[in-house]
Amino acid sequence: MHIHIEGSLEPELMFEIAGRNGIALKYASVEEARRAYDFADLQSFLDVYYEATRVLLHERDFYDLTWAYLNKASAQGVRHAEIFFDPQAHTDRGVAFETVVTGIRRALIDGERRLGISSHLILCFLRHLSAEEAMETLRQALPYRDWIVGVGLDSTEVGHPPTEFEAVFEEAGRHGFRKVAHAGEEGPPEYIWQALDDLKAVRIDHGVRCMEDPRLVERLREEQVPLTVCPLSNVKLRVFRSIDQHPLKRMLEAGLCATVNSDDPAYFGGYVADNLQAIKDGLGFTREDFRKVAENSFRASFIDEAEKERLLNELASYF
Ligand code: HPA
Ligand code: ZN
Repeated sequence: MHIHIEGSLEPELMFEIAGRNGIALKYASVEEARRAYDFADLQSFLDVYYEATRVLLHERDFYDLTWAYLNKASAQGVRHAEIFFDPQAHTDRGVAFETVVTGIRRALIDGERRLGISSHLILCFLRHLSAEEAMETLRQALPYRDWIVGVGLDSTEVGHPPTEFEAVFEEAGRHGFRKVAHAGEEGPPEYIWQALDDLKAVRIDHGVRCMEDPRLVERLREEQVPLTVCPLSNVKLRVFRSIDQHPLKRMLEAGLCATVNSDDPAYFGGYVADNLQAIKDGLGFTREDFRKVAENSFRASFIDEAEKERLLNELASYF
């Protein structure tokens, strides 16, 4: 539920697409690109991430990106993915919204047919851009309403509080989009309150800084608001020093509906199973902990209720 499709662009595919599109990269090789993936914070990552998205121009590029992700996810046992995309990272460069969404959509259909992965697409607004630009992006999305399950909010968090996007989230709600928002990754617990109260977000992406605010933990527990936690991301972006410092285990112990996600797997050291392995090694996750996060994930998803029950039953019988 927390995977940015642009963040699944592996350097090999980035070079291949750059080559066929005649785009010069600032790295001499795949190895040099990988070596540059050493980040001080969220912004230093975003600079590299937006730079890499420049190679994506044509529908085929968005198809190939998404198809590569689905193959990786499938190989790691993923059955259902709710995938973010950042249209403004492309429309700001002159790529049409239609090109982006059509390429991704075609791959998602093939993923369902050929790999058996179901999926939903979530449009994220870039919070370092204005609320007006977010509203314009929502307008561009309306012809594709049936392809997009919800809206989210990502990019530079600190200095860009959720409340600034209240009107666009309200408008998205009128069109039936589900609402999620990144909050409490680098930003303070106050941003999580705003995402809940002002944006009416039904899931919080990251949310790890909730642990600094006992009243907020109580609210999140009481309402079982899902949190899409990304352990390897948090270490790569230095939210926590190492996996063994990560609060995920404490979040589960506090009764929170925490899930495990990969965020930007090409940049942060792996896909969802790599994150699961990391919390097994670093936080001592047990079989019961894994059962709980898997159950939380299906409960938190936007899968329709009948299918959700079927998957939860399958999960229960597996364990
Ligand atoms: N946080 C905020 N914005 C993002 C991220 C992230 O981890 N990845 C891509 N855009
Ligand atoms: Zn994210």
